[in-house]
Amino acid sequence: MPTANTRRKTKKKPARSGWRTARTSDRHELYEGSVQEPSAEIAFIERAFRERNGRLPEVVREDFCGTGFASCEWVKHRAGNRAVGIDLCAKTMAWGRKRHWDKLSAEQRGRMKYVKGNVLSTRTEPADVLVALNFSYFIFKKRAELVKYFKAAFSNLKPGGVFVLDSYGGYESFSVTKEERDLDGFTYIWDTEKYNPVNGDVLNHIHFRFPDGTEIRKAFTYDWRLWTLAEIQEALEDAGFVRPAVYWEGTVKKTGEGNGIYRKKTVGEACAGWIAYLSAEKPR
Ligand SMILES: C[S@@+](CC[C@H](N)C(=O)[O-])C[C@H]1O[C@@H](n2cnc3c(N)ncnc32)[C@H](O)[C@@H]1O
Repeated sequence: MPTANTRRKTKKKPARSGWRTARTSDRHELYEGSVQEPSAEIAFIERAFRERNGRLPEVVREDFCGTGFASCEWVKHRAGNRAVGIDLCAKTMAWGRKRHWDKLSAEQRGRMKYVKGNVLSTRTEPADVLVALNFSYFIFKKRAELVKYFKAAFSNLKPGGVFVLDSYGGYESFSVTKEERDLDGFTYIWDTEKYNPVNGDVLNHIHFRFPDGTEIRKAFTYDWRLWTLAEIQEALEDAGFVRPAVYWEGTVKKTGEGNGIYRKKTVGEACAGWIAYLSAEKPR
């Protein structure tokens, strides 16, 4: 998504011979190929939980699951794993079910379910880890709404459970910018159309462009509040979580780019664009 995702999520891949066009492409497939990397997310989920509990988690709740890509990968990852994905959008989940869930074995399908619902009010089996990724909780623009969501996340975790989130920022994210990345036969464009410094509102779009010049404009639009890490950590504590932590990405010395390795830090670099993971714990 933003600059930071460029650093974390996708290595630049060589464009193939231009077989994609706007007409032949599917926006969900392009989205997944641009900004999702379940293997990295799964590695982080396991690490964040193990650091606090000394064992691996089994039950994951994926809030704002969209296509449920990460949840389907979670049940494939280990035999005992279970997942539930929550999203408001039935159409997106139906796409994911066809694309990912239908391809699981019958046994794996029994361990992953989609739930159409609002993350604020949908109760599920208490999870070891609850994830809210790709900044989806930025949909909550007021502090009271953010804390309400964090309280809901808290209530859907087991004691000792871990909440995993991500966040982005950096001085470029507070400006009107466009960032392009050439991926597998298409160009991904992250377009920050508006940022309002008075209230922190930010309006972002994802567009896709193809080698023949055709485009899918506004494939996805996000009307968000750009929360800072300090605000997020304070809101997590207000919701009852303890030990909120930020995992900051290391840097490749030669290029200054992110190296994909995240470590717990209390001091970050005031760079142009970054993304970070956060974790917080529900007390036992
Ligand atoms: C940015 S996408 C994230 C998709 C996926 N989690 C990812 O990592 O790429 C945000 C998703 O949140 C869903 N959504 C927005 N508000 C929601 C709410 N209150 N409850 C459940 N889902 C919500 C949207 O339907 C959309 O699929």
